[in-house]
Amino acid sequence: MLAIIGGSGLTQLSSLEVTRRQIVRTPYGEPSGALIFGRIGASEVVFLARHGHGHTIPPHEVNYRANVSALSQVGATRVVSVASVGGIRADLGPGTLLVPHQIIDYTWGRKMTFHEGAESQVTHIDFTDPYDESLRAALLEAARAAGEKIVDGGVYAATQGPRLETAAEITRFERDGADVVGMTGMPEAALAREAGLPYAAINVVANYAAGRGDSLHRIEFTHIEATLQGAMARVHRILSRLCGEVA
Ligand code: HPA
Repeated sequence: MLAIIGGSGLTQLSSLEVTRRQIVRTPYGEPSGALIFGRIGASEVVFLARHGHGHTIPPHEVNYRANVSALSQVGATRVVSVASVGGIRADLGPGTLLVPHQIIDYTWGRKMTFHEGAESQVTHIDFTDPYDESLRAALLEAARAAGEKIVDGGVYAATQGPRLETAAEITRFERDGADVVGMTGMPEAALAREAGLPYAAINVVANYAAGRGDSLHRIEFTHIEATLQGAMARVHRILSRLCGEVA
């Protein structure tokens, strides 16, 4: 079963025919909200709003372990994350969709592993390629079939938030090789790998990152909502294709 974790701009899936909701408890605490089960086309999917259904949980307070653990418990076999980002590269302006292939993690102080505590063995996961290549390919193919333009590959810089970055921080991320910046990609991706769940992401560029493009002097929030709304309609079409629906 496909799991979809929706971020800002995607607190519900309009294309989802909801069949039931389930509150799941985990050894790591409570997930961001009830899991929403339903169908897209012929496929059963489970949806979780990363920031809660009322968008009340900030990125640094999301219980990523509980979210991944809950999805795993209910039988998810792969996870697609939808997450908004700031575009660092000049060609990644607002409204761009991108399937990242790499991550640089600048977050700190988050619970980022299932393997801790006295009883846990020291465990190192391979994370050379943080995203699952066949799920990435499936997303790219679904976008192609839906006629939606999407960028294949990009380096995602995960920042702590909730504040946005300084222009100098963005320059540093760019020097490090980052193309987009967001606040929720980690530890989510690493926890999915620890849980053995193939994981890939669709990044939606909500704005140019600080000091770039029309965010040269400040990031204007007024346009972000409209940008996300338009882009999420395209994300829905891609997810419907991924689920085998020929729209
Ligand atoms: N920075 C970090 N996270 C984000 C941004 C940004 O500019 N836009 C959307 N999520």
